[in-house]
Amino acid sequence: MNSIKLNIDHAASFTGREKIAALDNEAASALDKVLNGTGAGNDFLGWVTLPTDIDAAHLADIQATADTLRSSCDYVVAIGIGGSYLGAKAVIEALQDSFAAYKPVSKGSPKVLFAGQNIGEDYLAELQAFLADKSFGIIVISKSGTTTEPAIAFRLLKDQLEKQIGKAEASKRIVAITDAHKGALRQLATEEGYKTFVIADNVGGRFSVLTPVGLLPIAVAGHDIKALVEGAREMQAATATAGEDNLSLLYAETRNALYRAGKKIEILVNYNPKLHFFGEWWKQLYGESEGKDHKGIFPAAVDNSTDLHSMGQWIQDGERTIFETVISVEKPHHSVIIPDDKANLDGLNYIAGQHVDHVNKMAELGTRIAHVDGGVPNMQITVPALEERYLGQLIYFFEKACGISGYLLDVNPFNQPGVEAYKKNMFALLAKPGYEKETEAIKARL
Ligand code: PA5
Repeated sequence: MNSIKLNIDHAASFTGREKIAALDNEAASALDKVLNGTGAGNDFLGWVTLPTDIDAAHLADIQATADTLRSSCDYVVAIGIGGSYLGAKAVIEALQDSFAAYKPVSKGSPKVLFAGQNIGEDYLAELQAFLADKSFGIIVISKSGTTTEPAIAFRLLKDQLEKQIGKAEASKRIVAITDAHKGALRQLATEEGYKTFVIADNVGGRFSVLTPVGLLPIAVAGHDIKALVEGAREMQAATATAGEDNLSLLYAETRNALYRAGKKIEILVNYNPKLHFFGEWWKQLYGESEGKDHKGIFPAAVDNSTDLHSMGQWIQDGERTIFETVISVEKPHHSVIIPDDKANLDGLNYIAGQHVDHVNKMAELGTRIAHVDGGVPNMQITVPALEERYLGQLIYFFEKACGISGYLLDVNPFNQPGVEAYKKNMFALLAKPGYEKETEAIKARL
């Protein structure tokens, strides 16, 4: 099977292989907790078997809903934040043309826009102005159904859509993805008669990309969700037992061996701008899962070679508390050859006739060697190409590793109690009903 690969040689050369192997038993027990639900947060393990649980009828329903939106809209706004946003954004960006946003819309092939991932007044005003003369639909995604950012965006865009095409027609172009029973969005969807999909209770937001949360926007953008799920299924099977072949286990062990050796920051590195949002998705997955009890590897991400000209100095020479995990994409989709130039004023003729990707790969290799020489341990994940199947493998690989790694750190990888602190203060500052005491207390501090 053609598959993603993991190379830990240049991390093991720092810790010693024995330090990684010393975690074998702990990691096997962490994997067991993930598979058998015997660890903390075990009511949020629905994602573990999600790829094999998704049946053909469910996938067909998602695809049919996507097709309806595709045939009726030029733009579809996916509204959501955190786990209800980043997975779809990451996959769509990885698969779509880099200049898709600037190309005209062709009938039956809408563009997916995002909202509800911020509270920027300008962002929302500009989105509303852009959509004023457009044919658009909405996918509103909120597991809790009560998150402020997407709720504001949905209130605005729902109102706009209803004014543009009427309430009855608007309700056909709005799809809600939320809890089966709870939350304001569920009630609204029932009252308005929207098509809905359910986010299962046992799948947390950051593990939900392989549910309708991610699959519907990805299908609306025209990508092959069957292949994405198929890739995840392959990785589910490949990471089902402990052993050397289990890449998730090996990655979790290696990053924890590095953490225990004082490497507190992991930088996910890509050499393909299409992977920028994959880095954002990964940051949420690991940051929200592991940053607890005053522990956790800090997840950072860079887009190279761009960031070699901004962060490269720090990575090469700064405090030696970092390690890197590089995602290498083996094959680009296109071919661009650097032309010969008679005058050669830029001195580039020495690479004339070469693929741009060859230069990129040499930048990658040269950087990896320089960083290892500079004291930065390095893991490399090789992805054959940016295609749905390999992205499905990569997503599941990271999710499984995240569960194992969280248990190795001895935290509950599936809750996020820290996220509530800002919400409590924001509600108090906004004088939300029910927060009277908190409002009084916070105002006294200002
Ligand atoms: O991973 C998580 O649980 C969070 O990032 C949530 O996805 C995010 O806060 C959005 O929550 P909700 O989908 O309930 O609106």
